[in-house]
Amino acid sequence: MTVRSSFVVVANRLPVDEVTTDEGRQWRRSPGGLVTALHPVLAEHKGTWVGWAGGTSEEAPEPFDLEGIHIHPVPLTSLDLERYYEGMSNATIWPLYHDAVETPVFKRRWRESYRQVNARFAEAAAEVAAEGATVWIQDYQLQLVPAMLRERRPDLKIGFFLHIPFPPIELFMQMPFRAEILRGLLGADLIGFQQRLAAQNFVRLARHLLGLRYEGQVIDVDGRPVKAGAFPISIDVAEMERMAADPAVQARAKQIRAELGDPKTVILGVDRLDYTKGIELRLKAFRELLSDGKLTVPEAVMIQVATPSRERVEHYQTLRVKVEREVGRINGEFGRVGVPAVHYLHQSYSRTELAALYCAADVMMVTPLRDGMNLVAKEYVAARADTGGALVLSEFAGAATELRQAFLCNPHDPEGVKEALLRAVHIEHPEARRRIRIMQRYLRTHDVGHWARTFLRELGVPDVEAA
Ligand code: ADP
Ligand code: F6P
Repeated sequence: MTVRSSFVVVANRLPVDEVTTDEGRQWRRSPGGLVTALHPVLAEHKGTWVGWAGGTSEEAPEPFDLEGIHIHPVPLTSLDLERYYEGMSNATIWPLYHDAVETPVFKRRWRESYRQVNARFAEAAAEVAAEGATVWIQDYQLQLVPAMLRERRPDLKIGFFLHIPFPPIELFMQMPFRAEILRGLLGADLIGFQQRLAAQNFVRLARHLLGLRYEGQVIDVDGRPVKAGAFPISIDVAEMERMAADPAVQARAKQIRAELGDPKTVILGVDRLDYTKGIELRLKAFRELLSDGKLTVPEAVMIQVATPSRERVEHYQTLRVKVEREVGRINGEFGRVGVPAVHYLHQSYSRTELAALYCAADVMMVTPLRDGMNLVAKEYVAARADTGGALVLSEFAGAATELRQAFLCNPHDPEGVKEALLRAVHIEHPEARRRIRIMQRYLRTHDVGHWARTFLRELGVPDVEAA
């Protein structure tokens, strides 16, 4: 029997991926900021999460309960994976919305697949939502779902949140089925963005492309008000603080430093292996500082965690080759037997291992060319219970508008990145503590609960449990 919920989240990915190991079928937490942000919100409110389980099949796995969340899987076939996920979502929309830092690829056959899969998600959401429920649709993979769901279930309250940047009009206009995407989004009652500028881009686009009128941030869609607004996403700060303060995590952090040979400075990067994250430019900055003699190995070492991501998409394959070549070059030039300059880890980790890495790092480098938010930057700040550590942060990460005490840099300017890194490396402890404390205070009042409450209140759902 289908469970009907008064609060439903619809996202391309479930919080867990189905993986097949020697021990059979297992569920493993899936990567990415969306899952990090929404998992605690849904666990608190006991809602249903509609999403893809990670594998490919005609039939979805049966719905099940996990940590207080009702999980409702949606199937993707291998053709959907190729056309809707790898194609339209991650080779067209992803680069286009990230300032075209890689050239977007446009293919007509991907479009139909995107429509079909969006319709499947809308169908699943319509099935699990109780009468008058709130349905919160997430991210760029599902931009047609709001209108498709409204058509099926006009009784629902529909919210949409975009986790990535929303491009300026001139860039969005490159999209071949741009009006359809825009109408799809306008099916929601409230459309949330990470940044104020993105919300402004959106309302202007509605006028430019569809001739719709707006006042402030409210667009008139055939007499129905649709609101756009900025809701910067965050993390479960209390959970990260708890994890980082755990003696086992602290011991592991010490062990990591010892395994690295107790260097004076540990520099850390943690990202999905994605070309928007600026991993190469960060490695290059480190190499040039070693080359200039401003940093030396083994006094300074770098750890770069590069989580495998979208591995069949060409841009990602090319990036992996470039990053691994750069790591090899640095280690070849500056490493010694048993003492590499860069420790490169192309793996997934548990939350506690990540917390230990954050605690072990003197400097965290978050240098995306473009990023909707970047939760890793917030995780690092929250994890520094000892109030040490310094954050180098790109001005093009959404987090830069909030974490003003980071060492901000323009990732397109190599000298600026090097300078920010050196300043972070040489920061005096009291100054580091002052900066981290201010950012921690801010994050405690702007955690993921605050993000979800603010969005849902604006949608007219003051208390999800009562919805
Ligand atoms: P994005 O959503 O683009 O992946 P974010 O920085 O916003 O970027 O979020 C990434 C999330 O994925 C963070 O919560 C981070 O802790 C998690 N993550 C990144 N790398 C790993 C990894 N190797 N193992 C486990 N979790 C990871
Ligand atoms: O936050 C952006 C985002 O694309 C999420 O929608 C997604 O779940 C995450 O990054 C990881 O990407 P993917 O689901 O393609 O592995």
